[in-house]
Amino acid sequence: METPDTLIKKLTLEEKARLLCGVAPMHTFAVERLGIPSINVSDGPHGVRKMTESGDSLSGLSDSLPTTCFPPAATSACSFNPDNLYEMGKALGEECKYYDINLLLGPAINIQRNPLCGRNFEYFSEDPKLAGDLGIQLVKGVQSQGVGTSLKHFACNSNENFRMDGESVVDERALREIYLKAFESVVSYAKPTTLMCAYNKLNGAFCSENKWLLSDVLRDEWGFDGLVMSDWGAVKDRDKGVDAGLDLEMPGSVYHNVQVIIDAVNDKTLPIDKVDKAVLNVLNLVEKSHIDKIKDCDFEAHDKLAMDIALDSAVLLKNQNDILPLDINKKYLVIGDFFKTMRYQGSGSSLINPHKLTSPEDAFNARGIKYDFVSGYKVSEINQNRDCEDNAIKKAKDADVILYFGGQSDYVESEGFDRSDMKLADNQLLLIQRLIPLKKKIIFVMFGGSPVELPFENDLSAILNMMLPGQAGGEACARLLFGESNPCGKLAQTWPINYSDVINNKSYAAGPIQLYKESVFVGYRYYNTFNVPVRYPFGYGLSYSNFWYSNLTMEADSEKITVSFEIENRSKVGGKEICQLYVSGPKSNVYKPLQELRAYKKVYIEGKEKTAVSLTVCLSDLRYYDIDQHKWLFESGAYIFKVGKSSENIKLKQILNIASKDVPSESLNQYKNYFSTKESIESITDEQFKIMVNYKEEEVTNSKDKYTFETPLKDLNSFWGKRIYALANKMAQKEYKKTCKLEEGPEKEAKKKSAIFMLKIIPDNSLRSFCYSAGGKIKYEEAQALLALANGHIFKAIKWFNTKSKK
Ligand code: BGC
Repeated sequence: METPDTLIKKLTLEEKARLLCGVAPMHTFAVERLGIPSINVSDGPHGVRKMTESGDSLSGLSDSLPTTCFPPAATSACSFNPDNLYEMGKALGEECKYYDINLLLGPAINIQRNPLCGRNFEYFSEDPKLAGDLGIQLVKGVQSQGVGTSLKHFACNSNENFRMDGESVVDERALREIYLKAFESVVSYAKPTTLMCAYNKLNGAFCSENKWLLSDVLRDEWGFDGLVMSDWGAVKDRDKGVDAGLDLEMPGSVYHNVQVIIDAVNDKTLPIDKVDKAVLNVLNLVEKSHIDKIKDCDFEAHDKLAMDIALDSAVLLKNQNDILPLDINKKYLVIGDFFKTMRYQGSGSSLINPHKLTSPEDAFNARGIKYDFVSGYKVSEINQNRDCEDNAIKKAKDADVILYFGGQSDYVESEGFDRSDMKLADNQLLLIQRLIPLKKKIIFVMFGGSPVELPFENDLSAILNMMLPGQAGGEACARLLFGESNPCGKLAQTWPINYSDVINNKSYAAGPIQLYKESVFVGYRYYNTFNVPVRYPFGYGLSYSNFWYSNLTMEADSEKITVSFEIENRSKVGGKEICQLYVSGPKSNVYKPLQELRAYKKVYIEGKEKTAVSLTVCLSDLRYYDIDQHKWLFESGAYIFKVGKSSENIKLKQILNIASKDVPSESLNQYKNYFSTKESIESITDEQFKIMVNYKEEEVTNSKDKYTFETPLKDLNSFWGKRIYALANKMAQKEYKKTCKLEEGPEKEAKKKSAIFMLKIIPDNSLRSFCYSAGGKIKYEEAQALLALANGHIFKAIKWFNTKSKK
């Protein structure tokens, strides 16, 4: 291929416009005349979803080739171990090379703003420092293999309901300090080849046409020089997108958008320079994307790595009277379908067809463990199943120790929709409620991507949270239960007691416009600051070892502070401890969380041994973002450095006075009262918040018609509109019913999950988003015809139906 600078001079305007629109489902456009090849991309983020010829971007397991399913981000984050992510990235890069994939769509580093987000499992944490560190290493690992990455979803895509047309309204401090922070770190330290913009609007403009986000911040401030692509179907007005800094539309294949670019250039509403800039970004990416295809890939080694990461990430939440680890020679009663059909990954675009799968049942059998099994509930149901329950209760009466395998299924937690509550599904909750009065020792082996309410926690003897452990999760689970390995993960997301304890519990995902009124008080930053009791704090996790902290010393120079201390393992068993450093800023008029995670380390300590640990914090990491001066400022005053086992279990602390010449803006004072108590945050009105954020709604172009290309299908209330909505539902229902008739097995499960995903996303999807994400399957002209129909324009609809689309 010739150099991008040479090629750009030879391309016609149409070729340029085509290069800016992808080729569905997962390619860029090739210009054969000039020897410009197409490159392939693939999901991501914790496995390679290599689609088969018949697959489309939403097809299930049977349509993708077998690859390693590593633990999803919410799980691997609990390892607090960035090395895991580097190794995972390297392995993913190798699998990409094996399958001839140029670019992996990940990592996804959005902040877990609320426990109900259906996609929390794909995101690392509620904390931007942790999410950023892990994202950096995943990108570095993948890119070490010459494979590209796409950091996603930029930005503030923290809910799934209304995901195609919802809006996040966020104040600049929360943006800079929480929601953009991890993106900034990964862009600065790992240089991902591409970034993927999110579906939602951010502060008045769709991310796909948000100039502030894509150009001012990303490129001008952070110096990003790679390519920005859209999420699949996230484009609204293609010309506005190019103007704002969106280079590549994905999946593309809607010729209309090629024409939009051509027309806008010809009409001089879109400068050709902007088009050329975007085309150069595409050409640079294509030029860089040389894959040295490999013939062999060590899938066994990757399976072992997936197991090691699952082991390093599982969190022991409770262990009364050290009931764990279990005696391998005793007999146990095992209850719960998850024992056989372990939930090891989430549903949606990241669904991996695992190369190998080890369930807890496989791992127990491999060890010759004696057990009785009774399902107790069905994994593919959420309602009570009295027969299953009765069988389990009968068996449980004679048992001493019960291993209960349960948690959240894909029916309640998935990409595409948010959970409706934080409870376990009825079939499991009611079963547990009947088991408890039997007064047995119950060990809950839990699976799922985000927190659940545990009202029965006091009545359990132990809880081992495997999260979503990836394909080798069963083996990891057996090793931990029987003491072959020592649990060492800690929670990367706070577990509230009840959903009503969550700050935005009433407004979260309840409507298309999300006002992020809690500002910087996200996750532990909220619970710690306002003394809200939680079930398990951020950074919490137990071990079979016992760790003691002592001897804190600090050293400071003009750039950094080094905090040193010792940890002693007072038990006989060797184990890993994740020590965490939180820093509280000086008391001032700048509202701030009580403390923030600034450093952490995972250290292995032999039984009865002691180790010295040092954690370093750069002074620049202690700054806050001043929204008036539009820059990061450092406040003078007393900073408290706290070392602990979790955000709520601080073991050592010391105060350090630090001087600075920066002067915080006065204007912050006016908002301080908003954030002084939890009640004051709750009482911020929408109007007050909009003023604080300086929020301007996007101008709506006046349309004579009631319905636009953006109207959610569920809102098409006219005679034809209702029929269009019903038809879309009927088609999805038909697909779902078809999957229910398939033979039992993983293929059925995967297809069923994809069908549920489609069913759930229909109501909030617009004709625009269906058309643009369908990669040519729903033609633009057909979608326009449907819109005309919904608006009652029969002749116009016929005209559109008869319009041929240009390929
Ligand atoms: C998801 C992305 C994914 C893309 C391609 C979208 O629906 O939001 O994360 O990479 O599909 O499958």
